[in-house]
Amino acid sequence: MKKILLVEDKRGMRVMLSTALKEDGWQVTAVSDGDSALKHIQRNTYSAILTDVCIPGRYNGIDVLASTPSGTPVIVMTAFGTIDMAVDAMKKGAADFISKPFKLDELLEKLSSAVYDHSELMLGRSAVYLETIRRAERAAPSGMNILILGESGTGKELLARRIHQCSGRENGPFVPVNCAAIPENLMESELFGAEKGAYTGSTDARPGRFTIARGGTIFLDEIADLDMSLQGKLLRVLESGTYHSVGGTKELKSDALVIAASNRDLRTMVKKRLFREDLFYRISEFPVKLPPLRERENDIQLLARHYLELYCGNSFTESAIRSMQNYSWPGNIRELKSLVRRACINSAEGIITGEMLEFPEHESDGSLVEQAAHAARIKEKALISSALAETGGNRKKAAEILGVSYRTLLTKIKDMKIGVR
Ligand SMILES: Nc1ncnc2c1ncn2[C@@H]1O[C@H](COP(=O)(O)OP(=O)(O)OP(=O)(O)O)[C@@H](O)[C@H]1O
Ligand SMILES: [Mg+2]
Repeated sequence: MKKILLVEDKRGMRVMLSTALKEDGWQVTAVSDGDSALKHIQRNTYSAILTDVCIPGRYNGIDVLASTPSGTPVIVMTAFGTIDMAVDAMKKGAADFISKPFKLDELLEKLSSAVYDHSELMLGRSAVYLETIRRAERAAPSGMNILILGESGTGKELLARRIHQCSGRENGPFVPVNCAAIPENLMESELFGAEKGAYTGSTDARPGRFTIARGGTIFLDEIADLDMSLQGKLLRVLESGTYHSVGGTKELKSDALVIAASNRDLRTMVKKRLFREDLFYRISEFPVKLPPLRERENDIQLLARHYLELYCGNSFTESAIRSMQNYSWPGNIRELKSLVRRACINSAEGIITGEMLEFPEHESDGSLVEQAAHAARIKEKALISSALAETGGNRKKAAEILGVSYRTLLTKIKDMKIGVR
């Protein structure tokens, strides 16, 4: 079911849009101010958000945009005289904007293409990747707790959403909890809820994410960052299926599918006693590991071409493709997306060459594989430079010394931006 949050202060417009969106197959939640919009965004997952830029209350459309999770497309509506805000919104990541007055068809069209761009489109043809996705899809309806491991940017959240779609609970909510982003002292009430007056200043009882996720899926992202006392509390929910809100006495039941994710090596953390062993076994009843991009043969091309088409419709030269294939992608698909996006901005003409790709000279602090790849690149660069120095810059001779073909050497010199002195 496509769910949309509509934020529009003018009643007539709100009613008209709600009706039209419902007719177009959307399940609509309509609110009239920023405060309620933010509350809904925190507690629900939407396929899209449609918001006016100028709305009453403490928060405007830009604030709504800023509070929306990155995977959800936001379309802003602007009235005459607010085009600056629309531009601002686009800079801050809005999927699109539309100026009032507009034709309904135009709006519905924009919405469907924004949702398409953000849809759980999972590109990839390499066997390692496809096999991982298929295993996860098969496990989805089993109700087992699923642990998704993988380096940063490999698509863990995307896979979690896909699992939810295949779980038989897809009409229920998908509730993400970022264990790294929520302060420790608020985490317990965030997960389990709190009664009125449980904290100083808490005037309302509020439901926790486990309660909101009833009938759906709870996604515990970056689970390695959950502190020890909460690890114990989480374990209890997973074992007993019950929990208490902060300050509450009533036993609450959890039936949500539990998916956890981490880019850390949880096993090592268990050995170092940084993560509870019993919780580790609970959450990893069904573990899946997403392969890093550099191990997904040909998918680098596929993804790069896809995003290039999406962002600007230009094309890559062979050398650009080759340098992307030789790169180690420590930030995986997220890094590839932003590299391609930057290249689009840098290239006014239709062609993107290897030189237009800005690979970072990054200091690696990540995994062993990443460090090894980085060290290998540095070593390789040093060997090539010294061979060139030895031969006074003669590339043919340098290639002989290094035992590689002339062509290979030329490519490497270009890719590694090695200067000849
Ligand atoms: N197979 C894929 N096809 C197309 N885009 C993808 C694919 N996998 C991931 N992406 C995109 O890559 C980006 C990163 O994905 P996602 O946020 O799911 O990664 P993650 O593993 O959760 O990263 P992190 O560890 O940094 O939280 C997103 O923009 C996502 O849409
Ligand atoms: Mg993530």
